[in-house]
Amino acid sequence: MNNNQKTPKESQVTMTELVLPNDTNTFNNLMGGRLLYLMDIASAICSQRHSNSVVVTASVDNVSFSEPIALGEVVTLKAKVTRAFNSSMEVFISVTAENIPEGKIKQSNSAFYTFVAIDEHGKPRPIPEVVPETVEEIELYKGALRRRQLRLVLAGRMKPNEAHELKSIFFDE
Ligand SMILES: CC(C)(COP(=O)(O)OP(=O)(O)OC[C@H]1O[C@@H](n2cnc3c(N)ncnc32)[C@H](O)[C@@H]1OP(=O)(O)O)[C@@H](O)C(=O)NCCC(=O)NCCS
Repeated sequence: MNNNQKTPKESQVTMTELVLPNDTNTFNNLMGGRLLYLMDIASAICSQRHSNSVVVTASVDNVSFSEPIALGEVVTLKAKVTRAFNSSMEVFISVTAENIPEGKIKQSNSAFYTFVAIDEHGKPRPIPEVVPETVEEIELYKGALRRRQLRLVLAGRMKPNEAHELKSIFFDE
């Protein structure tokens, strides 16, 4: 590995929070917006570590809240960079909720965030490559190009006919 390459392990983040009354809705469950805030913080720290730089959130892919997280539960957020491009990088974040008295841990949700490293003038700057190591990291790395093309097409930043990786899922070329 050269100086311009890093493994996902080198920048991974684990963040733990206790759900308190101020974080909840009227059903005593963690508010979605509060969870997105925590996910943004954990994944931003991860991408700062990867890029050794200040970063901004460029996009968040769809997030579905499959399981509510209750008042008093412990939320654990795990963020790992999946792939870096030029100045942007994709981070996968996975959230679990733990009920300590019941001894139960459930998967709550997951999402992909994209961050862009910026220089002192606020301009995008180049970042190190990601070198995946585990089977899961390799799978996430492979799928990242397709997800990047999908989000850039949806953001109007890429023409659909240029999204070759994405098209190959639907059509034989
Ligand atoms: C993200 C931002 C830095 C991109 O700046 P830009 O001048 O458009 O720069 P570029 O077109 O050169 O794109 C830079 C990178 O951002 C990526 N990018 C831009 N918009 C994106 C989007 N909607 N989704 C994913 N990636 C995006 C580009 O693909 C490019 O990646 P690459 O360098 O790895 O190829 C700029 O739009 C910005 O500052 N946005 C506001 C960020 C912010 O305030 N976030 C918090 C909001 S709550």
